[in-house]
Amino acid sequence: MAEGEPIRVVVTGAAGQIAYSLISMIANGDVFGKEQSVILHLLDIPPAMGVLEGVCMEIDDLALPLVKGYVKTTEPELAFKDVDAAFLVGAMPRREGMERKDLLSANVKIFKVQGEALNKYAKKDVKVLVVGNPANTNALICSFYAPSIPKENFTAMTRLDQNRAQSAIAKRLGLCVSNVKNVTIWGNHSSTQFPDVFNASVKLPGSSKSVYDSINDSQWLESDFIKTIQTRGAAVIQARKMSSAMSAAKAAVDHMRDWWSGTSEGSWVSMGVISDGSYGVPKGLIYSLPVSISNKQWKIVQGLKITDFAKNKLDLTAKELLEEKEEAMAVCNA
Ligand code: NAD
Ligand code: LMR
Repeated sequence: MAEGEPIRVVVTGAAGQIAYSLISMIANGDVFGKEQSVILHLLDIPPAMGVLEGVCMEIDDLALPLVKGYVKTTEPELAFKDVDAAFLVGAMPRREGMERKDLLSANVKIFKVQGEALNKYAKKDVKVLVVGNPANTNALICSFYAPSIPKENFTAMTRLDQNRAQSAIAKRLGLCVSNVKNVTIWGNHSSTQFPDVFNASVKLPGSSKSVYDSINDSQWLESDFIKTIQTRGAAVIQARKMSSAMSAAKAAVDHMRDWWSGTSEGSWVSMGVISDGSYGVPKGLIYSLPVSISNKQWKIVQGLKITDFAKNKLDLTAKELLEEKEEAMAVCNA
């Protein structure tokens, strides 16, 4: 890419609540850097075009120099044409009392259509982040219908879970979130996910200690903490009567920024990525794993400690993803 040339970034569900926060952060350079100009491709469905018109007025009114233009459309062909990065947000959110997988039959076909469109129209090195739920399985379906794009280019968002876990640990210790490193989310962005602090550390100037030793309360760490992170999305819905949006947009920014710019030495982040059999996870699922990133390529971090307690949790969330995969393929083939 020539220096100074804008990149094309698609946001689907552009009239929705997550996109409302996300678009301004992309436009401000929070994802691709303060030197990288962007052309925004904004996709939504016909009934949302009025709202999207208002969003576009606000993009103008932001008066941000990195925005070199935008495309507002209901057509996947236009939305995905030549894009370098894709935030696939557009999908139905769950309501109180639902699990995310209850959205599968309503949402998975969106990702079939968008996979086909990415396959035909996007750049072959496009980086795809699926936010719409159930995110892991939607990402898998999207990749399945885009066979000309490497499977490594399709990811699902579990960064919100990572941020939640990091924040909960920091709060418990009375520290800043930046002191808590390498919390890992394993598996599905669902209530079977395993937020793992066995391999996480607390870093203070001149010292580093494991989160486990710092908290020194295995009962809390192995029970309440895990449950709280697993059910945090539902707790936000119960309180707000709408699903998380501000924190989801920030997590999408964190995920794509790190994919674009890399992780620092010795640290990793969690992303739903195509599994290769590492840690005994069945191959070919989009499963959240610890990854380090350089040159815009992620690599699964190897050699982390997996206790029997952790292994059971890794297997349980893999089982759910296998079931979701089967159901999603059946819906797409129907
Ligand atoms: P929202 O209802 O506010 O917005 C969704 C938007 O998508 C709407 O504007 C809708 O018109 C649009 N849309 C629907 N079908 C579309 C299609 N085929 N193509 C393009 N756009 C389409 O919802 P939201 O709060 O922005 O949430 C969006 C999704 O993100 C939901 O599925 C939600 O569950 C999920 N989510 C995931 C995470 C995560 O951590 N992975 C976090 C929060 C929310
Ligand atoms: C979240 O984790 O907040 C989102 O996935 C929304 C939801 O349905 O919980």
